Amino acid sequence: MDKVDIGIIIGDSTNMDKLADNSIDLVVTSPPYPMIKMWDDLFHSVGAYTYDEMHNYLAKTWKECFRVLKKGGLMCINIGDATRSINDRFKLYPNHSRIIEICEQIGFETLPYIIWQKPTNKPTAFMGSGFLPPNAYVTLDCEYILIFRKDGLRKFEPKHEGRYNSVFTKEERDVWFSQIWQVKGETQDEEGYDKRTAAFPTEIPRRLIRMFSIEGDTVLDPFLGTGTTALAAKEVNRNCVGYEINPELLPVIKRKIGISQHSLGKGVDVNLKVELSQP
Ligand SMILES: C[S@@+](CC[C@H](N)C(=O)[O-])C[C@H]1O[C@@H](n2cnc3c(N)ncnc32)[C@H](O)[C@@H]1O
Repeated sequence: MDKVDIGIIIGDSTNMDKLADNSIDLVVTSPPYPMIKMWDDLFHSVGAYTYDEMHNYLAKTWKECFRVLKKGGLMCINIGDATRSINDRFKLYPNHSRIIEICEQIGFETLPYIIWQKPTNKPTAFMGSGFLPPNAYVTLDCEYILIFRKDGLRKFEPKHEGRYNSVFTKEERDVWFSQIWQVKGETQDEEGYDKRTAAFPTEIPRRLIRMFSIEGDTVLDPFLGTGTTALAAKEVNRNCVGYEINPELLPVIKRKIGISQHSLGKGVDVNLKVELSQP
């Protein structure tokens, strides 16, 4: 492929009316996590205060993803569980299982998921005091990569060129298709946007895109954040479209995918289209 198309839509993915039905090959994303403090303000701004309300808000986007995915298209969602004490009562919020239930109600098939064990930089951190049993609890140091499919297997002509060009190696397959992944975080960007938006390392979307799409496909990230999925898609010759509700992130996304205002049109390897969606 000479150039890939990258579309950035600054708008709300609960209504992706700029995308046609059955137009997307793969969704790769990480939403704001319900009941994790850093996302409280965002959920409150859309009137979602409880665990149920937060998941109802995300469900609108999952429904839209189902509409825009082609038959046989996959959706990969990176999500972590949360814990919180309310009125002195401790509670686990299993975000991953709630999303599976919701996506099945929407009509997705659930495939086996990946457990992403994040190497911690504080190996001794644990939630308790000292070494005395029994009041400590296990650290939440894993996240999930849930994998869903729309309407059965994707069909190809025999010897489909794009499919054969997108082959992975045996070594890649052995690591990627096992259930536990150990992928390190990346150095944060200088301005700290990666940290503030809980960006995932590029290796996560890069693997998922190579596992579940072929060259020339179009990947959607409905919660684009700093644009990591778009960067990964570009690196492996897939087109990408992303929705991001926070307009402040537009320059950050452009920087991440290697496009600054003055480099546009001067031999860059992407066709970039930016749209500002009015509420
Ligand atoms: C966990 S972050 C995504 C981080 C991203 N994977 C990255 O690597 O940078 C979730 C993002 O979703 C955005 N967001 C939340 N609700 C949205 C909505 N309804 N439509 C579009 N973006 C939304 C937030 O502003 C935030 O940037």
